[in-house]
Amino acid sequence: MKRSKRLQTLCGELHPCSVFADVGCDHGYMAQYMLENSLCDRAYISDISEPSLEKARRLLSEYIQEGRVQSFCCAGLEQVPRDAQQVLIAGMGGEEIVGILKTGFLPPRLVLQPMKNSEKVRRFLLESGYPIVRDYTFSDGKFYDVICAELGQTPREYGSLALEFGYDNLFAPGVDFLEYLRIEQEKCRSRLAAAGEDIPAVSEKRKRLTEALHEAERNLR
Ligand SMILES: C[S@@+](CC[C@H](N)C(=O)[O-])C[C@H]1O[C@@H](n2cnc3c(N)ncnc32)[C@H](O)[C@@H]1O
Repeated sequence: MKRSKRLQTLCGELHPCSVFADVGCDHGYMAQYMLENSLCDRAYISDISEPSLEKARRLLSEYIQEGRVQSFCCAGLEQVPRDAQQVLIAGMGGEEIVGILKTGFLPPRLVLQPMKNSEKVRRFLLESGYPIVRDYTFSDGKFYDVICAELGQTPREYGSLALEFGYDNLFAPGVDFLEYLRIEQEKCRSRLAAAGEDIPAVSEKRKRLTEALHEAERNLR
């Protein structure tokens, strides 16, 4: 079992459910985790790539024989049955995740880990009336965002900073997010120093990073 810190973090965000779905499952480790730990009765795995899906099928062959795993070679949620209660979409771009949800369906619970454009994912969920319940950055060599949403939960008030950086990062900040801000600030500082003149987009980003840092530090106390 080769579960990276990134995958372990995602495992920690998955809740027990009857039917779990992993979209873009690749290796299939997440469905294996859910089944091995009796966190779901059945799982759907899907991937747009047949070779990726085949890896997962091999890993999960015993569960497939038992009828507890069904696999679908398709784009996004296209063929995934709608009784999936909790859907994981990890390791894809935010725009792709939004596209998958728009053309697919919104299950009762979502665990999303966009590689970029997290703000677009947050905006889409909130505009769809889908409350975001967990929304933070963690580090595993690189920085990753994880966004969990659950129908029926009390919506939280997202301002522009929370949309951009993630709600829990601002209001219950962890060390990884503070590190992320410091690194990004330093990147802006050195780009501006190397240019020897103002680059408005970089200055604006630096300003937003500073605002986020102030908000996070206020909420540390
Ligand atoms: C970087 S891997 C991430 C794998 C796994 N979800 C993880 O987080 O470790 C992305 C996987 O998503 C699949 N994929 C990309 N776009 C997809 C789409 N629109 N629908 C389904 N699968 C997709 C790729 O074939 C690949 O297996």
